[in-house]
Amino acid sequence: MTNTNRHKILIFDSGVGGLSVYQQIQERLPQLDVVYFFDNAAYPYGELTQDILLERVERFVTELVDKEKIDLVVIACNTASTIVLPRLRAKLTIPIVGVVPAIKPASLLANLAVGLIATPATVTRQYTHELIRHFSQDKKVELLGSTRLVDMAEEKLRGKDVNQQELRSVLLPLIGKIDVAVLGCTHFPLIKNEIQSVLGNSVTLVDSGEAIARRVESLLCPERGPDNNPPSKLLNKIYSSAPVWEEGALNERLSLLGFKPIQTYLRSDV
Ligand code: DGL
Repeated sequence: MTNTNRHKILIFDSGVGGLSVYQQIQERLPQLDVVYFFDNAAYPYGELTQDILLERVERFVTELVDKEKIDLVVIACNTASTIVLPRLRAKLTIPIVGVVPAIKPASLLANLAVGLIATPATVTRQYTHELIRHFSQDKKVELLGSTRLVDMAEEKLRGKDVNQQELRSVLLPLIGKIDVAVLGCTHFPLIKNEIQSVLGNSVTLVDSGEAIARRVESLLCPERGPDNNPPSKLLNKIYSSAPVWEEGALNERLSLLGFKPIQTYLRSDV
C-alpha cells in the first residue's frame, strides 16, 4: 500500500465520539476515503454486556469491511477496543487499529496523580487494569466512569451547550486530586474545552487521537512524503445502525467535517 488516495478506512464507534479520532486522521490524511459507522441502536456501549458488544462489533465490522471494500479499520471506541481487538484481528486480514486509554503518556507527565475519565465499562475492564499495572510508573490513578459525560458530548454535537455546573458535579471526585487527566473515551475530546475549564489549567488533558492518526498513517503509507497536489475527493459516508430521526443539527456539523448526511445502515437482522 503506497498511495493513500485509493485507501478507504472504516471508523467505528457507538456514537459521535469516533469523530474526535476522525478529525485527527483527516488532518494527517485528508485524501483518505472514510466510512464512519455508529452503532447508536446499542448506545451507550459503556453499559452493554461484553457478549453483546463483542457480537455486535464483530458482525458490523466484518460485514462493512466486505461491503465497502475497506483497507483498514479503526475501532474508535475505548470501551470496545479493550475487548474486541483480538477477535477482530483473528477474523480479518486487514489492519485493525484500536484506541485504549493513554495511561502511559499521562503517567510520564504526572507529578501528583492521573485521573482516568472513561465509560463505566472501561474503568472496570481487566485490560485497563493491566495498562495501569504496567504503565502507571507507580503514579496513583483515580478512576471515574461516567455515561453522563458521553451523553453531554452527543448533545453538544446536536447543538446543545454543555452545562458547566452539571459537568462540575460529574468531575467533582477528581477536582484538586490530579494533575493529568486521561480522556479515556473518544467522546471526551469533543468536550475537551469544557472539561479543561472545570478541572483548571493546571491539569493536563491527554487523549489517544493523534497517536491513532499516526498509526493509521504508518500502516497505510509508511514511505509517503507530503502530497503537494492531492486530487479532490468525494464527501465521506456515515451510517447509523438505528433509523435516522431528526438529525438536522448533527448533519450540519457533519457536513462541515466532510460527510454526506447520515444514512441508516440497512441489514435484516439488527
Ligand atoms: N466512545 C466510546 C468510548 O471511547 C463509547 C461511549 C459509549 O457508548 O458508552 O469508550
